[in-house]
Amino acid sequence: MAKPAKTLRAVEMTTPKKRPERPVIVDKNNAPAEKKRAKPAIARLTIGDKINLELPIYEAIEGAPCIDVTSLYKDSGYFTYDPGFLSTASCDSEITYIDGDKGILRYRGYDIDELANKSDFLEVSYLLMYGELPNKKQKTWFDNKMIRHTMVHEQLNFLFRGFPRRAHPMAIMVGAVASLSAFYHDSLDMSDPDQRELAAFRMIAKMPTIAAMCYKYSIGQPFIYPDNDLGFAENFLYMMFATPCESYEMNPVLADAMDKIFILHADHEQNASTSTVRLAGSSGANPFACIGAGIASLWGPAHGGANEAVINMLKKIGDVKNIPEYIAKAKNKDDPFRLMGFGHRIYKNYDPRATVLRKSCHDVLNELGQQDESLLKIAMELEKIALEDKYFIDRKLYPNVDFYSGIIYRAMGIPTNLFTVLFAVARTAGWVAQWKEMVEDPAMKIGRPRQLFVGSKPRKYEAVAKRK
Ligand code: CMC
Repeated sequence: MAKPAKTLRAVEMTTPKKRPERPVIVDKNNAPAEKKRAKPAIARLTIGDKINLELPIYEAIEGAPCIDVTSLYKDSGYFTYDPGFLSTASCDSEITYIDGDKGILRYRGYDIDELANKSDFLEVSYLLMYGELPNKKQKTWFDNKMIRHTMVHEQLNFLFRGFPRRAHPMAIMVGAVASLSAFYHDSLDMSDPDQRELAAFRMIAKMPTIAAMCYKYSIGQPFIYPDNDLGFAENFLYMMFATPCESYEMNPVLADAMDKIFILHADHEQNASTSTVRLAGSSGANPFACIGAGIASLWGPAHGGANEAVINMLKKIGDVKNIPEYIAKAKNKDDPFRLMGFGHRIYKNYDPRATVLRKSCHDVLNELGQQDESLLKIAMELEKIALEDKYFIDRKLYPNVDFYSGIIYRAMGIPTNLFTVLFAVARTAGWVAQWKEMVEDPAMKIGRPRQLFVGSKPRKYEAVAKRK
């Protein structure tokens, strides 16, 4: 995207340390170059008789161009009004692109189905962070880095013990991740590129360990240390389901499905949790605190909590014969019920992630001999009926990624309340990449939206005795 040249504020850097020899392709960590923008087209805005403004239009590489309104208030006295950011771009980004009408999702230019079917999660994390797929040497370097950081500080075990066993794992996850800033003081300074990178490695590598600890704690089993001979998804399954008293046999079909789920959830443009991470980071907060904020935002049922809500909904429907009743409820404006796992702010076509997971779901259930799983039957029939229903067709409501992920998790034996935790494990790769991109952008500013004030006019304070 192109913006006219403007005075850019360089990110304050500490004196760069001697950086270790390593195969990084895109290194924006040193003195940031000024953004190169083509000469912009102009949008003319007239307000009343007196205000005539010329606003630059930036072309995107793909997707809608943006009108730059940053000078609007200064030049006209007006703010723009866009609750929910329906028409507002909050940043430049080179990481992820979605075309919701065509059902396209790409990380750094690569189609999501190609990555899900050919790549692995750590390679995708490298791609998100550095902008290119790693060559063999770079991949080995990155995988080894990640392996070195899978363990958590031993003291963190005691933090878990402060939580009730019945606590929701997301409640523990928010606390445990934010608490990493209390343990890793050598990666808190966001102005130091080495510390930023170290924090990124720690975040991605430790999330599966923390997620599995949340599960083990809830069922009263001992924590299982990571096994660094295992791949990322394998290690997660191992820490979840192994016990100290017997050997654990890895099922490659399940590990493959898990890795695919992680890839599919790794990033998704400027969604609520990613925007939360960016907003928190824009104040200079440390990366662990920012990711903790992102996890809190992800928890809601309209975002990462939807996979849990899908299973609860399918259980409530209970039988294929009850589907019409629930479809009618979803269409009734007086009923708060919505079809969970359906609809998306961006996708107005089949969510490409759901296409990959639909197949994975069948693979996993076949492998586990659960082809007749009643919830899958209800889900398939619900999808079929909804996709033929005028209400859903008119509003372009299609199944999203969460419609199938929950069914896979359930078949694997992952409890429902852990689903969003797994979403957080995967999305950490995207959060970290987006946070790094923002911090390394020389034009970074603290995020601070305006408001349309609709409260009380000025009034005088009255002593409590005189109030009616
Ligand atoms: N069931 C029934 N009606 C729906 C649904 C649904 N799941 N989703 C949207 N609609 C209707 C909505 O009532 C509205 O109808 P009308 O135009 O008559 O008022 C119309 O479709 C547009 O909906 P909206 O609420 O304006 O759309 P939005 O972009 O604000 O909301 C959404 C997007 C994902 C929050 C919403 O579709 C939803 O609540 N879906 C269920 C929850 C869910 O599955 N969330 C996971 C999203 S994927 C994971 C992620 O990327 O975070």
